[in-house]
Amino acid sequence: MVKSVNVAIIGSGVVGSAFISQLKGLKLPIEFKVVYLARSSKEALFSSNYDAVDLNSYKTASAQKILGLDELNKFLKAANKPTILVDNTSNTSISEYYPEFIKNGISIATPNKKAFSSDLTLWKKIFESSSQPGGGLVYHEATVGAGLPIIGPLNDLVTTGDKIEKIEGIFSGTLSYIFNQFSTPEKPIKKFSDIVKVAKDLGYTEPDPRDDLNGLDVARKVTILARLAGLELESPQSFPVESLIPKPLESVSSADEYLSRLPEFDSDIQNRKDVAFSKSKVLRFVGQVDLKSKKASVEIGEYSFDHPFASLKGSDNVISIKTERYPNPLIIQGAGAGAEVTAHGVLADTIKIAERIAQ
Ligand SMILES: NC(=O)c1ccc[n+]([C@@H]2O[C@H](COP(=O)([O-])OP(=O)(O)OC[C@H]3O[C@@H](n4cnc5c(N)ncnc54)[C@H](OP(=O)(O)O)[C@@H]3O)[C@@H](O)[C@H]2O)c1
Repeated sequence: MVKSVNVAIIGSGVVGSAFISQLKGLKLPIEFKVVYLARSSKEALFSSNYDAVDLNSYKTASAQKILGLDELNKFLKAANKPTILVDNTSNTSISEYYPEFIKNGISIATPNKKAFSSDLTLWKKIFESSSQPGGGLVYHEATVGAGLPIIGPLNDLVTTGDKIEKIEGIFSGTLSYIFNQFSTPEKPIKKFSDIVKVAKDLGYTEPDPRDDLNGLDVARKVTILARLAGLELESPQSFPVESLIPKPLESVSSADEYLSRLPEFDSDIQNRKDVAFSKSKVLRFVGQVDLKSKKASVEIGEYSFDHPFASLKGSDNVISIKTERYPNPLIIQGAGAGAEVTAHGVLADTIKIAERIAQ
């Protein structure tokens, strides 16, 4: 008999729709039966007798009002089947509710960073509920570096007894692109403000680029990596994070005003780049966790022209993990954003869970 799991999908945006399309193409000896699909924050497809949602017509099929989280938890539990909830949103309320799903035996696969990078209390609740008998499993590979294999390998190093000494990396596709363009081993000529504008026009930044340049997204990823490596950071606000937004532009009301005034502040960062260049170094925006000194940070760092971070291309991410077993750091590099790679990270997690729980 073919093994089977129930799947509930929340969100069909950029990542969610790529996830659904990859899920449709799976050829595995496990049946993934989608019994609930919230295609937006308002509408969902499901039926009281748990019929499979047709993934070919979910965009146009007639839908119902989405279930509240308590109702959804009851609906999934009442099916009495192994169930995976795939959260393809960045919603905070959903992520805060994970412990309740997990206590009910529902497993989670998600690229949503919120649950893992907010207060430490939530992190502990999630993993404590998961370790209880009957608790659901939790996989979140795509919360750092999109589909790059980072969290799985880091977890494997920790659980097999390696000692993590230092984690260092470029964890924002947007800031990777901006610095790869701005600061290069060839004599760099482009202005910081011009590059930020191009990055916005190419759709690499959030609608307001300050949401990337404040460093918070990188701080969230550093928080997740530090916790996995054994440094229990309280929150992404509990360690130094360098913001790339000039102080006077923090409070301007629109992204357009921020962009139009950014050239006034080019000289500061230009000077830092010139100083680095005179030492044969480039600037990169990095997150770091030093397990020996128990410190984390997010800041601009200087890297020699021959360092792997200096030769990064496009908007790639890179992580360097130095451990007792890997004194020459383990380096993982590649696309750190985008629908297809992120969805593949979430789907690979969904499959790993299904292989453990399907009946
Ligand atoms: N895009 C990437 O390259 C990338 C890379 C790594 C990680 N991620 C993470 O992946 C997640 C999804 O990103 P995305 O780019 O796909 O975002 P997105 O395009 O904005 O899609 C989010 C989807 O979630 C739905 N949603 C939001 N709140 C909901 C709720 N309470 N109930 C049901 N549905 C809800 C939205 O519906 P409405 O349209 O009605 O709001 C939308 O369909 C985020 O956590 C993001 O950080 C994305």
